[in-house]
Amino acid sequence: LLQSDFVLLFCFSNADIFLSLSPLHLQVYMLPQIEKSGVAAEIDAAVQLLLKLKVDYKQMTGQDYKAGCPPSENLIVSNNGPAADDCDGEDLVDPWNVSASSTKGVDYDKLIVRFGSSKIDKELLERIEKVSGQRAHHFLRRGIFFSHRDMHQILDAYEKHKSFYLYTGRGPSSEAMHVGHLIPFIFTKWLQDVFDIPLVVQMTDDEKYLWKDLTLEECHRFTVENAKDIIACGFDVNKTFIFSDLDYMGASPQFYRNVVKVQKHVTFNQVKGIFGFTDSDCIGKISFPAIQAAPSFSSSFPQIFGGKKDVPCLIPCAIDQDPYFRMTRDVAPRIGLLKPALLHSTFFPALQGAQTKMSASDPNSSIFLTDTPKQIKNKINKHAFSGGKDTVEEHRKYGGNTEVDVSFLYLTFFLEDDEKLEKIKEDYTSGALLTGELKKILIETLQPMIAQHQERRKQVTDEMVQQFMTPRPLNYKF
Ligand code: TRP
Repeated sequence: LLQSDFVLLFCFSNADIFLSLSPLHLQVYMLPQIEKSGVAAEIDAAVQLLLKLKVDYKQMTGQDYKAGCPPSENLIVSNNGPAADDCDGEDLVDPWNVSASSTKGVDYDKLIVRFGSSKIDKELLERIEKVSGQRAHHFLRRGIFFSHRDMHQILDAYEKHKSFYLYTGRGPSSEAMHVGHLIPFIFTKWLQDVFDIPLVVQMTDDEKYLWKDLTLEECHRFTVENAKDIIACGFDVNKTFIFSDLDYMGASPQFYRNVVKVQKHVTFNQVKGIFGFTDSDCIGKISFPAIQAAPSFSSSFPQIFGGKKDVPCLIPCAIDQDPYFRMTRDVAPRIGLLKPALLHSTFFPALQGAQTKMSASDPNSSIFLTDTPKQIKNKINKHAFSGGKDTVEEHRKYGGNTEVDVSFLYLTFFLEDDEKLEKIKEDYTSGALLTGELKKILIETLQPMIAQHQERRKQVTDEMVQQFMTPRPLNYKF
């Protein structure tokens, strides 16, 4: 035991042995009365446990445990998560935190390597266009959806007339959604249209209750309010099922069965490694990932898929949700189910810069779907981080930097016209276009877009929400 890798602390005031079993820091707190109290067997058990933890550590990280040396970056894929992400000015990306070490934002190429996903390359883009018979969405063309898992398999199957379904979700943490929240839904709507397939949307009101200081009633109310914004994106009611976890978990035996299967096959150690949970996180959080995993399996929706277990699932989501689906893909074969495929997007930057994603709790960090034209104008003029130079003379001389300019970045999301966007880029880089002029273009792009969204949302009645949220068969041909 007295090898250098365990820290022994002798504690005189208490008669217990405390084991604190964080895999990264193994500590044993022991007492002096060991001999007389006959605890040799307990110590032996503790030593065995510690040795087993070393083996687990090696399995999880692929490295030998060494005291005081946190694991380096090359963790094996299924377990690399936030626990390893916060070293040395690295970007931090997990479902609850996103922060980049550079003003250009997160280094997405590095993230692909670290997460073990694949880049959406030219070949895949061409295949998507060929199979769907449509020009790729500008989110794909511009690298906003930049990474994937198993998309080729989805296309292979589709080419053989085997269909698939879409799954995405939203954590309803407040009534107000911002434009960034629409990105996955705008893209999912496009996928639904071009492939003509069913979609399930999970509203994780349970997740928000567990993570935030909100009541169950508030979270459920946000689900309904957010569902209206989602419906306003134009989803087809005959092909779309939106569900609240708080309602659907209790209403669907098959869904709950899949949750339990996942729960049985993932250990606390694994979720610690993937999500960075600690011993003081409530058990609701620890078991929640199984609930986000379950909609990846078609058997969770017997009303839609008639009990079929083998309808492939494609999940469009922001890359911060990937830890959930790494876990899902890891357990799927062990419970006899298909691994879901994924399409990952970059983050929508905060007005203040690409170093972080927008936060619903800071009204000035984002443009909300409820903002008036005037608020949109003021926020952009006041808060949008500029890649321009300090004075007009300098700007004319040296030009602006579109890589960090938030107004330009927003236009890459919302200005569909490729030629216009290219021209703006040229002019801004050369100095011909000033920051104020660039901001004006963005304001004039967003004002009508948000106004149209508000108009469509107004048309969404409570009965329509009810319809979308009722478990029922969907219309699709397989
Ligand atoms: N956890 C996500 C959030 O907080 C919501 C979510 C649930 C989700 N299932 C999903 C997002 C599937 C994308 C894909 O927003």
